[in-house]
Amino acid sequence: MPDTLTITDNRTGKTYEVPISDGTIRAMDLRQIRTGPDDFGLMSYDPAFTNTASCRSAITYIDGDRGVLEYRGYPIEQLAEKSTYLETAYLIIYGKLPTANELEEWTHNITYHTFVHENIKKFLEGFRYDAHPMGMLVGTVGALSTFYPDARHVDDPDSREMQTWRLIAKMPTIAAFAYRHNRGMPFVYPDNELSFAGNFLSMLWKMSEAKYQPNPVLERAVQVLFILHADHEQNCSANAMRSVGSSRSDPYSATAAAAAALYGPLHGGANEEVLRMLTEIGDKKRVPEFVKRFKSGEGRLMGFGHRVYKNYDPRAKIIKRTADQVFEITGRNPMLDIALELERIALEDDYFIERKLYPNVDFYSGIIYQALGFPVEMFPVLFAIPRTAGWVAQWREMITDPEQKIARPRQVYTGARGCTYVPLGERG
Ligand SMILES: CC(C)(COP(=O)(O)OP(=O)(O)OC[C@H]1O[C@@H](n2cnc3c(N)ncnc32)[C@H](O)[C@@H]1OP(=O)(O)O)[C@@H](O)C(=O)NCCC(=O)NCCS
Repeated sequence: MPDTLTITDNRTGKTYEVPISDGTIRAMDLRQIRTGPDDFGLMSYDPAFTNTASCRSAITYIDGDRGVLEYRGYPIEQLAEKSTYLETAYLIIYGKLPTANELEEWTHNITYHTFVHENIKKFLEGFRYDAHPMGMLVGTVGALSTFYPDARHVDDPDSREMQTWRLIAKMPTIAAFAYRHNRGMPFVYPDNELSFAGNFLSMLWKMSEAKYQPNPVLERAVQVLFILHADHEQNCSANAMRSVGSSRSDPYSATAAAAAALYGPLHGGANEEVLRMLTEIGDKKRVPEFVKRFKSGEGRLMGFGHRVYKNYDPRAKIIKRTADQVFEITGRNPMLDIALELERIALEDDYFIERKLYPNVDFYSGIIYQALGFPVEMFPVLFAIPRTAGWVAQWREMITDPEQKIARPRQVYTGARGCTYVPLGERG
């Protein structure tokens, strides 16, 4: 049987044969289907890209029905158990696990770039005392483009390499500075003797001690959370990164756009919403009443459902395990009991079963973040730090893909045509 699709246009009676490759047809192959010379040709209409592959990618594989997530072919479970965030970032960006020398060099390059220009500090100080740290992060990452104008040479591999190191290295510093500003606390400079996660914790929590020593269990928990959030193929923010980057703007501006996409409550803001929801529920006993409300369309059960996963999100399972380890150190977060009850009731309910709505990564991550001492406003920031590796990998893949062009979708125009301008005084 040929790998083709035969289409009959019932408007004209004409038949077309279009090739199928990798389970897709090319949308441009539809353009030849026309009713006459004045017809633009057939397009596919796909609001929110629910069934459109926008690129070929070798970074992250997801099987949403089976609940599988792999970075460059490696299952997320193995990476969460055995890898570190920086090693996983290397894997995501370069497509292979590093050798010992490669990892050492990569770690050195990232560590070397953790400091930010002193003017970035001043820039951050300009934000209001109560500014949302994610808003500060979005603005400050975008501002990096003014500090590194060489970043506009996106077709130069050396420049791309340099911006890759800078972006991954500086995100935790900006994030921690945003947090300290919010708390009215002095900024803490990076400690390059600590691990990527340990240094981040130091920049957040260090007070008057000469050296901050992170608790190894909590440091590992942060690493695991970072690994789980490092990439997730063509999600809203990766799509923003690629779309903005496709105009050849510099990667700091594109990352600011990606982070802005992540800010939204349906994407990276979801775990913040989960915590607000759990706080509002307040007691296990009130869970059935809230589930009823979600089913009637009065709000959504935040942290449930996913565009791609129609099964338990594999990251949610790992986070649930990590939560137990964290709670041994920090004490149990009372929100966990409400979350477990919500999960239990929802997973038995026909509404959620029929729609294949399962807990996603955000359902439990907020509970851990809260136990670690983070305010809810920091949750999307904690997502953005590790996701930078994914954004950079997606951007690099897009830039070097000869098939990619400036992203520019089509539309189905539904507005008026041919109107005649009426001067203001003559309008009724
Ligand atoms: C993630 C999400 C945006 C995916 O949305 P989507 O793929 O566009 O799915 P839809 O909005 O079309 O939802 C399909 C159906 O499930 C329902 N649904 C989806 N998520 C739901 C939720 N969290 N609570 C209640 N109902 C939900 C929708 O109302 C819809 O029902 P209908 O067919 O009767 O209209 C969505 O599930 C959601 O809003 N979840 C909560 C936010 C969240 O946790 N986001 C983090 C993602 S990692």
